[in-house]
Amino acid sequence: MAIAPLLPSSPGKMPLSDYKPLSNEELSQRIEKAKAKLGKKLLILGHHYQQDEVIEHADLRGDSYQLSQLAANSDECRAIVFCGVHFMAETADILANRPEKLATRNGERVSVILPDMAAGCSMADMAAIRQVEDAWDQLGEVIDTSRMIPVTYINSAASLKAFCGKHGGIVCTSSNAAAVLKWAYERGDRVFFFPDQHLGRNTALTMGITNAQMPVWDPYAEEFGGNTEQALVDSKVVLWKGHCSVHQMFRPEHVAQFREKYPGIKILVHPECPQEVNDIADVSGSTSKILKTVEEAPPGTKWAIGTELHLVNRVKKEHPEQEIHFLSPVVCMCATMYRIDLAHLAWTLENLLVDEVVNPIHVDPDTAKYSLIALERMLEVR
Ligand code: 13P
Ligand code: SF4
Repeated sequence: MAIAPLLPSSPGKMPLSDYKPLSNEELSQRIEKAKAKLGKKLLILGHHYQQDEVIEHADLRGDSYQLSQLAANSDECRAIVFCGVHFMAETADILANRPEKLATRNGERVSVILPDMAAGCSMADMAAIRQVEDAWDQLGEVIDTSRMIPVTYINSAASLKAFCGKHGGIVCTSSNAAAVLKWAYERGDRVFFFPDQHLGRNTALTMGITNAQMPVWDPYAEEFGGNTEQALVDSKVVLWKGHCSVHQMFRPEHVAQFREKYPGIKILVHPECPQEVNDIADVSGSTSKILKTVEEAPPGTKWAIGTELHLVNRVKKEHPEQEIHFLSPVVCMCATMYRIDLAHLAWTLENLLVDEVVNPIHVDPDTAKYSLIALERMLEVR
C-alpha cells in the first residue's frame, strides 16, 4: 500500500502531553471555553463518523459533500478545525482559500487544522499520484485517453484531484457519484475511477454498465494493471483496485442472517460496501442519506445498517422509535477518524487562543489550483 506522507504533529506552545491525562469532562469544558473566546473566527466541522464526545463540539456536521460546501461557503471564520480525516482537511483548505475567497479577505488565509496528523484514510493511501500517472500513460498505449474522463473519489490525496483537474476530470463523493458519471459520459466515452473500486462499480452498475465492461486496475501488476489490452479496449470504466477496510467487512451472509432473524428488516448500506452486499441492500447511500432515510421512516421500522460503527450507534441513540442494528458481528470502525479525540481538540483550540496554529493543512499552490478545477465541478454536479 502506498502510504501518503503526513507531516509530523506540531509541538505547539502548549504541549499535547499536558492534555492527555485530563478527564473528558475537563477537556469538554476547556473546549467550550476556548470556542466562546474564539467566537466567529473559529469554525469546527465534524464528519458523521466522529465519536459522540467530539461531534458534540462541532459547529456543523455532515457528509463529505456537505462539509466541502460548508468550507467553500465559510465567510466569517479565520480558522477551520476539521474533525475528520486528512483528505477532508485538504479539501477544506483548497475551497476556503480559493482565489475568489482570498480576494474578499484581502489575501488573508483561513487556517485549516487537522487535530491529529495521523488521521488519514487507508483507502486514500491506496492510490499514489505516481501510480495514477503511470496507469494513465499505460492506458494511453491502448486507448484514446483524450476521450477518457478521470474521476477521483473525494477520499484521495489533493494530488489526485489536481490530476483530474488537469485532465478534464472531476471529483465525486458518495452522494453525487451517479450524477458525476453522467457528467463524465457527456464529455467522454470512458471513465478512469479511483481509488474506490466499490463505489465506482456500484454506481456504474445502476447505469447499466456491466462488470465485463469494468476491468480493475491493479497498480502493483506488471503491465496494464493486470488486464489484457482487449479488456481495456472494451471498457466503459476502469476501476482502481482500492477499497475501504471498514466497509469491506460487511458480507452478504450478514444480510441473510438479519433477514432470517428479523423478518421485514431493511438493509441500509454505504456504497463503499462490496457489490455482493450493495446489490441485496434495500437502500444504499452516503452517510447523510443513511441518516435521512432513518429519520423519514415510520416509527417501528427495523434496520440493519452497514457503515461505520460510531455513526450507527449515534443513529440508534437518536432514534429510539426505530429498531436499529449494526450489520456485522464484528466491530467495523474507522480507526483513523477515531484518532480525533477531546485531548487533540482542546490542544488545538487552546493553542489557537495564543495565536499558535498547530497541525496546519496547507496544500501547495500548484496542486490547489488544479484540484480546485475538479472540486468546483464536483460542487456543481448533483
Ligand atoms: P460520506 O461522504 O458518505 O460521508 O463518506 C465518507 C467516508 O469516508 C465514508 O467512508
Ligand atoms: Fe477512509 Fe474508510 Fe475511514 Fe471512510 S471509513 S475515512 S473510506 S478508511
